Amino acid sequence: MKKNKNPDRLDSRLLEQNNICYYPAVDSTNLTARLLAEKGAPGYCTVIAEEQKQGRGRLGRNWFSPPNEGLWFSIILRPESLTPERAASVTMVTAASLADYLRNKYRLAATVKWPNDLLIAEKKFGGILTELKSNAGHLDYLVVGLGLNVNQQQSSFPVEIRSRATSLAMESGRNFDRTAFFLLLRESLLDAYRHFFLHGFASFRRLWKEYNVTLGRKATINWPGGSITGLALDLTAEGALLIKDNLGQTRIVNYGEIE
Ligand code: BTN
Repeated sequence: MKKNKNPDRLDSRLLEQNNICYYPAVDSTNLTARLLAEKGAPGYCTVIAEEQKQGRGRLGRNWFSPPNEGLWFSIILRPESLTPERAASVTMVTAASLADYLRNKYRLAATVKWPNDLLIAEKKFGGILTELKSNAGHLDYLVVGLGLNVNQQQSSFPVEIRSRATSLAMESGRNFDRTAFFLLLRESLLDAYRHFFLHGFASFRRLWKEYNVTLGRKATINWPGGSITGLALDLTAEGALLIKDNLGQTRIVNYGEIE
C-alpha cells in the first residue's frame, strides 16, 4: 500500500473545542467509550480516534481501522425510557438516520441492510456495533460504534474486502473534510436519538423500511450456533427481522448476519 507524504489528520483542537474525546490511537473506540461510561461519562459523550489498533466488528470480527481516511467513533447513550429488549432498535435508528442524512445532504444513494450494514450500490461503506450494559432488567448505558469509510480509494482496502467495500469519496467523486463532516453528522445523529427517546421507533422504522435492501428478498441469517433461511418479510416494532422460513413458519430473528 502506498504511503501518503501529507496524510490528512483529524483536527484534534476543533474536536476538543466541541467536547469530543479525541485520541490519536486506541484499541477500539467502543472499548474506550465503555470505560468512560463505567466512570460515569454522560449520555452523548463521544469518542473518536484517528486509528484503532483493534477495531471490532460484529460477531467478534476485526474492523480494519487505519488512520487518515475513515471515521471511527462511538457515542454513549443513557436513555431513561428504553428497556434492554428494545435496545436493538438503536442500531436501526442509527442506520436509517445516517442513510437519510447522506441522501439529503450529499445526494448519496445510501441503503441499509439488516442489522447493521450501510451500503451504496450493494457495497459496504460503514458498519455499526452497538453494545449495552444492563442491570436487573434496567438499561444502564449503550455504546453505539460507527465505522465509516470516507476518503478511501479502492487500493486502500485489504485485498480480501476490496470487491465488497466502498467509501463516500469513491461514490461521490470528492474528498471530505473528515472533521467538519463528522461534527455535522454527529449533530444529526444526536437529534435522531433525542427524537427516538421522546417519540419512539415508528418514524425511524418507516425510514429504515424505505432505505433497506433486506425485505422482500430471500436471506440466510447466521448467528453463532444457528442459521435460518427464508423470505425477509418485515422489521418488527422492536427492530427484529421477521422471516418466513422454508417450512412456511414466521420467525423473529433478533441477532445474526445475512449471508
Ligand atoms: C460491523 O459492520 O461489523 C460493525 C463495525 C463497527 C466498527 C466501529 S469503528 C468504531 C467502533 N469501535 C469499534 O471497535 N468498532 C466500532
